[in-house]
Parts: sequence; structure tokens; C-alpha cells
Amino acid sequence: MPRIEFPAVEVLASSVNYTDVLIRRHLYPQTMRRQPPFVLGYDVVGEIDQLGDGVRDFQVGDRVADMTVAGSNAAYRTLRADRLARVPAGLDVAEAATLILSWTTAYQLLHRAAQVQRGQRVLVHGAAGAVGQALLALGRLAGLELWGAARGEHAALIRELGATPIDYQREDFTRVLPGGFDVVFDGLGEDGYRRSFAALKRGGLLCAIGYSAGVQAQRGMLPILMWIARLYLWRWLPGGKRARFYSINVMRARHPAWFREDLERLFGLLATRAIRPRVAERISFDQLAEAQATECANLRGAPPLF
Ligand SMILES: NC(=O)c1ccc[n+]([C@@H]2O[C@H](COP(=O)([O-])OP(=O)(O)OC[C@H]3O[C@@H](n4cnc5c(N)ncnc54)[C@H](OP(=O)(O)O)[C@@H]3O)[C@@H](O)[C@H]2O)c1
Repeated sequence: MPRIEFPAVEVLASSVNYTDVLIRRHLYPQTMRRQPPFVLGYDVVGEIDQLGDGVRDFQVGDRVADMTVAGSNAAYRTLRADRLARVPAGLDVAEAATLILSWTTAYQLLHRAAQVQRGQRVLVHGAAGAVGQALLALGRLAGLELWGAARGEHAALIRELGATPIDYQREDFTRVLPGGFDVVFDGLGEDGYRRSFAALKRGGLLCAIGYSAGVQAQRGMLPILMWIARLYLWRWLPGGKRARFYSINVMRARHPAWFREDLERLFGLLATRAIRPRVAERISFDQLAEAQATECANLRGAPPLF
């Protein structure tokens, strides 16, 4: 067994994400068995403070990043040396942190899971959200024709990101493109993903990535897992459409090198300003608890959380 080395890192930036809401509600498979108290913090950009025994490939002061799922809303933490990505000098650390979960998810959805081709017609649900915005920005770079479903008030943002807005409160997205979409990305799971599947053209692909509609409806993990399992049965329906669930953690476990490669590619795009991630708000460590509470309270119909 190779020995794992753990440098200590000073945390420079760590996000508060929608995914923290799922973790706090025990609706996140990777953490659902963990009992509080534990430290949240899905991602980290930090500076190596101490190397630890046997760490050879890094120096004190190197800027690094990792997706830790939990534990990075902290001043210092240890990280596994074999999982670190390098952060180029000069990047804004908060912008760099946005790339770790939301933008790597979007990049892998487009280029690893769906393997999109220039000119394809693609629908993004939750288009004004963190992953949605990243999908539109990276989809535009990939030469896709994009539609973004969001509340009407986000229409200008969706247009700015190069997509046609669909106001999901007024328009039926299954009727927007009569021939159907090549690919639909769905992090909501309204109607157990059925309408997203219906919106595909023959041979199209539905990539489900989340279940926030199920969370709002206060469903438990079991019915949500059944929605996901059912996706894989739909391939047997006539029409040649396919559906699958993408998980950044599952893909990282299967292809650890892809994660580092894709994240470092995104850091490169950020360095040249080819992408411009929006940081919703910059807060200090002292404001974290309040930010977590606000993020959770913003979720419609939220039950008590730990
Ligand atoms: N599978 C993975 O590896 C992976 C990785 C990262 C994230 N995710 C998932 O991806 C999804 C999006 O994450 P995020 O970080 O982008 O979240 P986010 O920033 O909170 O954005 C989600 C967007 O969804 C929209 N929305 C919420 N409820 C809706 C509903 N009932 N009907 C229509 N639109 C609704 C909201 O837009 P409006 O204001 O327009 O309603 C919001 O902007 C989540 O389900 C998350 O769990 C999955």
C-alpha cells in the first residue's frame, strides 16, 4: 500500500454551496451517516503551511485546491497530497474556489458524461444557479446552442450567458423545441425527471445531477434513489433516448486523474479570463454560521436542520 501524505494547509477560501443544505439534511449519500457535530466545507483553496513527513512534490507556500466534501470551512486543515490540484499564482482565491464543485461538475457533465458536440441543442435547468451558470458559460465555449430554464427575473442573466431563457413558471419547456433537445441537464428532478426525458429528441441524453425538487417536497432518500434507479430503465423505452445520473464524487472515485486535469484546465481558463465565475458574496469566517443558516432558510419548504 502506498503511504498517504498529509500536508497542513492554511485555508484561503472555502464555499458555502447548495450541497451543504443536502449534507445538513442527511440527504447526501457521501455524508448521510455522519452524525453532527462535524465541520462543513465542500471545497478548499489554501496555501501549504507545513509539509508533513514524506511530502515531496510540494513546497511550503504552494497554492493548492481540493474537493473535500466536508471539513474545509476552517482556518487550517490537513489534506491528502495525492488529491491536490495546483492553483496558479495570481488567481483570486474566491473565484478559484467556485471552480472546484460547480464548474468542475459543469465541465465534466459537458465533456465527460455527455461528450457534447459543437452545434448540439442543450437545455439547462436551474440555469441561474451555480452549476447552471457554469454549464451555460462552458457550453457557449463548446459551441452549443443553449436554453436556460429559470425564473423570469433571471432572463437577462441567462441571455448574457449566451442562452435563450425559458421562464419555467410561464412556459412549458417540453414544447419549446418541437424536435427535442440533444441533451438536458436536470438538477431539480421535478416529476421524477419525466418531463426532462420527454423533452429529448430521439437518441437524446438526459443527465440528471440532483433532486432539489424532491428536497423541497420533503421527500426522503429512498424515493429519491428510486427516481434515480428508474432513469436507467428508461433506456429500454422506444425512441433510443438515454438517461443517467452524474455524480462528481463517483466520477472522481472512478477517474481521479480526470478531476485534477479538469479542475486545473478550469484554473487555466480563469487565469486567461476566458471564464468569469460570479462569486455571490464574500464573507469572513465569522459570518459562516449565519451564511449556512441563510442558505438553508432560502430553500422553499425547509424542515428543521441540524
Ligand atoms: N451530481 C453532482 O455531482 C452535483 C454537483 C453539484 C451540484 N449538484 C446539484 O445540482 C443542482 C444545482 O446546484 P447549484 O449549486 O447550482 O444550486 P443553486 O445555486 O442553488 O441553483 C439552483 C437553481 O435551481 C433553481 N430551482 C430551485 N428550485 C426549483 C424548482 N422547483 N423549479 C425550477 N427551478 C428551481 C433556482 O433557480 P430559480 O431562482 O430560477 O428558481 C436556483 O437558481 C442541485 O440539485 C445540486 O444538488 C449535483
